[in-house]
Amino acid sequence: MKHDERIAPVPGDYNLKDYEEAYRTFSWEEAEKVFSWSETGKVNMAYECIDRHCEGPRKNKVALYYSDPSGRDEKYTFYELKRLSNKFGNVLRKFGVKKGDRVFVFLPRSPELYVSVLGTIKIGAIVGPLFEAFMEGAVRDRLADSEAVALVTNPQLLPRVPIKELPALKHIILVGAGDALPQGDGVGFYDYHKEMAAASEELEIEWVDREDGLILHYTSGSTGKPKGVLHVHNAMIQHYWTAKWVLDLKDDDIYWCTADPGWVTGTSYGIFGPWLNGATCVVRGGRFNPDDWYATIEKYGVTVWYSAPTAFRMLMAAGDDVVKKYNLSTLRHILSVGEPLNPEVVRWGLKVFGKRIHDTWWMTETGAMLIVNFPCMDIKPGSMGKPFPGIQAAIIDDNGNELPPYRMGHLAIRVGWPSMMRKIWNNDAKYREYFRIPGWYVSGDSAYRDEDGYFWFQGRVDDVINTSGERVGPFEVESCLVEHPAVAEAGVIGKPDPVRGEIIKAFVALRAGYEPSEELKQDIIRFVKERLAAHAAPREIEFRDKLPKTRSGKIMRRVLKAWELGLPTGDLSTMED
Ligand code: WTA
Repeated sequence: MKHDERIAPVPGDYNLKDYEEAYRTFSWEEAEKVFSWSETGKVNMAYECIDRHCEGPRKNKVALYYSDPSGRDEKYTFYELKRLSNKFGNVLRKFGVKKGDRVFVFLPRSPELYVSVLGTIKIGAIVGPLFEAFMEGAVRDRLADSEAVALVTNPQLLPRVPIKELPALKHIILVGAGDALPQGDGVGFYDYHKEMAAASEELEIEWVDREDGLILHYTSGSTGKPKGVLHVHNAMIQHYWTAKWVLDLKDDDIYWCTADPGWVTGTSYGIFGPWLNGATCVVRGGRFNPDDWYATIEKYGVTVWYSAPTAFRMLMAAGDDVVKKYNLSTLRHILSVGEPLNPEVVRWGLKVFGKRIHDTWWMTETGAMLIVNFPCMDIKPGSMGKPFPGIQAAIIDDNGNELPPYRMGHLAIRVGWPSMMRKIWNNDAKYREYFRIPGWYVSGDSAYRDEDGYFWFQGRVDDVINTSGERVGPFEVESCLVEHPAVAEAGVIGKPDPVRGEIIKAFVALRAGYEPSEELKQDIIRFVKERLAAHAAPREIEFRDKLPKTRSGKIMRRVLKAWELGLPTGDLSTMED
């Protein structure tokens, strides 16, 4: 199992020059002193990201370039974002939204989304970003669980918001509604642009405690509905340092994080990390398309690029000729997150971009990067890298004993890093499960460590599916499937896939009176797409007369997976006859 392949760092002037030295000497107590609030105790993430830069030479620097295939093409300086987010904060305040309230943003990537997120944070409210791809069931679960009082969306997405089922929701701000505002349902509807035009540019920022709520990201586990992971303003300490040292951001960088803010990568590293460092961010609207992506790098002269393995694999599949059509010579630093980064993708990156792709490992729950490849260190292709300074990572067994090199076990982190989640909304029991081994945060991933301290991802311990970097809970999909009139029972697994990492496969037993057919398969797939989201719908369905269940009636996904992979099914003693 020795890993001999190494790719040496490209000589350069990195923000972090010596990993070992930094790991030895770093402390979070010292690290937080870059922020003046560590003395005053008065903090606000949006102030640190935007307003602070307006007091110095970055005031008129471009903070955000935005463009999309529809032809929008805009740029915003830090000073412009300061004034716009002030206005949005005032809009919310006018409606009576206050500190601690939940405000959700359900919009495609657009300047309005970023302004809404910043403005919400400025008044001390907790922001909840939602993927534009979410359908009614997914939107309802999140707004209901969080009891959101306000929502920013647009007329196209509004039909997916089941207002009558959301008694806490009082204010809906529509981007692009104009005079065509709906009425009724006990909710106030407002036009975003009209409200913004009328609002003042001056705002009293809500100074909060470092432990006050900042953002709520819903993510999937193997059981139950999606869980609301709460992060607090204190997370900025880690956002700042990881963006500085791992993304290696410098003042003249043009940085592109391809992730949507509906996913934690799109906020921690699409908003907070880069703007805390005063970097210029590129946001490209619309869908993935190889030509469009390369053209975006060329158009803006992107220097630092953070993306995901599925995207790199799709670019790789599109062929090297597409790469050659564009001038990508500005690229200086490339990074990846969300799924295992295959060694062949790293080798391909070296060939076509002439650059290493740096893997980073972290989770929605961890709030920021924990295990990473720094620009200053050797990459071992296939490894997630080493712990960030201030992070103690280990491989442990079920009892919390640390395991020697190459032994596979739980990937666990010593509790107590700045960006760790502080709560699972309405679900303390679930929160405690992560800390069931005293002193450790248990990630749910299995991994091993090699003799040089590099970590190697092996898989999930639970049934969580990772398809194209999106976490999907099998329970959520199964619950939706059994609502279909033809479906009696359903079991859902992740099936290995060369491009997407995994695809969702459903095993379905039909109700009496229904016969398997291709048409029925398509109908069931459509059913899930319309209720949850396209990425949560099975790509494959297999009909079976019966599904393997425990005597207590739980579908045994482990057996389904063994069937799928043609592996032995293991211990079946708990299975009903
Ligand atoms: C997986 C937030 C392998 C892992 C960023 C983790 C990875 C889950 C990597 C978190 C990586 C993330 N290599 N697997 N570099 N990064 N994962 O919360 O299983 O949507 O537990 O991601 O993605 O998913 P989440």
